[in-house]
Amino acid sequence: MPRGALIVIEGLDRAGKSTQCDRLVTRLKTSTPTLLRKFPDRTTPIGTMIDAYLRSTSDLDDHAVHLLFSANRWEASSAIKAELEAGVTVVVDRYIYSGIAFSRAKGLDGAWCRAPDVGLPRPDVAIFLDISEEAAAERGGYGEERYEKKEMQRKVRQDFLELRDDERDAGDWAVVDAGQSVEEVEENIWKAAQKGIERARTKDLRTVV
Ligand code: TMP
Ligand code: MG
Repeated sequence: MPRGALIVIEGLDRAGKSTQCDRLVTRLKTSTPTLLRKFPDRTTPIGTMIDAYLRSTSDLDDHAVHLLFSANRWEASSAIKAELEAGVTVVVDRYIYSGIAFSRAKGLDGAWCRAPDVGLPRPDVAIFLDISEEAAAERGGYGEERYEKKEMQRKVRQDFLELRDDERDAGDWAVVDAGQSVEEVEENIWKAAQKGIERARTKDLRTVV
């Protein structure tokens, strides 16, 4: 039995990730067992701390919260591996690239930010939904959460695009213009996802380096 593919969807807040993850999962499910996961997973004890931080009901040092975001991925990592090995394709709404981009945008060192995620299951494909911060803000504006501000989102977008060019995982990336219609974005994500599915069919799961 072939293993499942690890498909990561990344992007700014309001890029349309939730809608598109749902569409992708529905479509994949017609031909293969598929699961949706989302980070941060706010349902665990670590996720509860992250949630309080994002809603500004608690304050944490930037490094401390970065490590919590990473720990929140680690606590799911064995389950994700088991799912992939069992032939289940796992679509993940935000993963290590959000971890690095958001913390770097706050001024933390890039190498330091990546280190705690080294060893996690590595995406077969990372699909970045690219939207300008202006277009994102026009989509009904941002909510109340900590990072939902134009200046922060501008820096995060810059960081995402720099991560795409990092030679360690440049080959894993696909950038999709998220400013198009929902249907067009869905189609482009579908095409990009095939790259990850093909990789899972022919190659072993790797770890983040
Ligand atoms: P959400 O809106 O997708 O629930 O994500 C909450 C916020 O957390 C979002 O602004 C991105 C940010 N984030 C990080 O700063 N580091 C991470 O590792 C992850 C997964 C998200
Ligand atoms: Mg959000």
